[in-house]
Amino acid sequence: MNGMTAAAESSSKERSSGLEGRVAFVTGGTRGIGAAIGMRLASDGASVAAGYSRDRETAERWAEETAKCDVPVSLHQGNVGSAEDCRRTVQEVLDEHGRLDILINNAGITIDRTMLKMDDEDWYRVLAVNLSGAFFLSKAVLPHYLERGSGRIINISSIVGEMGNIGQANYAASKSGLFGLTKTIARESASQLERSGRRDPDGPGVTVNTVTPGFIATEMLEGIPDKVMDRITSQIPLGRLGRPEEVARVVHFLASDESSYITGQIWAVNGGMDM
Ligand SMILES: NC(=O)c1ccc[n+]([C@@H]2O[C@H](COP(=O)([O-])OP(=O)(O)OC[C@H]3O[C@@H](n4cnc5c(N)ncnc54)[C@H](OP(=O)(O)O)[C@@H]3O)[C@@H](O)[C@H]2O)c1
Repeated sequence: MNGMTAAAESSSKERSSGLEGRVAFVTGGTRGIGAAIGMRLASDGASVAAGYSRDRETAERWAEETAKCDVPVSLHQGNVGSAEDCRRTVQEVLDEHGRLDILINNAGITIDRTMLKMDDEDWYRVLAVNLSGAFFLSKAVLPHYLERGSGRIINISSIVGEMGNIGQANYAASKSGLFGLTKTIARESASQLERSGRRDPDGPGVTVNTVTPGFIATEMLEGIPDKVMDRITSQIPLGRLGRPEEVARVVHFLASDESSYITGQIWAVNGGMDM
């Protein structure tokens, strides 16, 4: 089989139509968009590990609900802005589930102020959580993916990373940063698989992609004044905010084994806002 190694051969055999047997780690996976992603993956048979930072109560409610899909579910507390927490939580997922197939870098925060009012700490905190977190977590899962010859990384960026937004220099920069990170990991992982002989043209392979949601109805938008929300909605051709489940649908598509020829790409889910 094209000089494939035993590892690549076994990953090819593992290919399946649903996500049964796959393990997904969704950061910020207990509410908002992340909760919908975890639920969607679980309903297709994946075991789901959800990360959260502070809100244990909401996390436990999510776990109870998702376990109704009859798949293993686990919770992992940590700050994705901390490299140590990222390494620890990835190891926890591997210890608990025995493998890790799908990493969704979804945890994110906003600290909005116009440039002149934004202080150093506002900048560093948002960059640490939204961008460095994706770097630390991706770095922690990659050796596992490359050894096996398969895996998915899906970064949740934002339309704001594409268009910019008043009061969001830190957030926009962190979300644009994910584009370069995505494309670089996509290129490096493809080239490393080739060099190690683990590239299997018929297997799920290692792919890295980004999804850019537009404005989605979650707690993240709750602080935005009604007047501003009305202005935002008037700029959306489809005339409404998106639903977390509508983002989860695209993430699920990218996570599947069949999406093996899609890598280094940016997928928008924004009601046509950037046309
Ligand atoms: N909502 C939108 O309109 C929109 C649009 C474009 C992109 N996005 C992106 O989509 C992602 C999810 O957004 P959302 O609206 O679902 O947000 P959300 O409702 O505010 O939920 C954020 C999640 O991230 C977790 N989190 C926050 N800081 C963390 C940290 N330092 N370490 C680990 N986990 C942390 C939270 O955990 P706790 O519950 O413990 O706090 C929570 O589970 C974010 O990356 C966001 O930037 C959102």
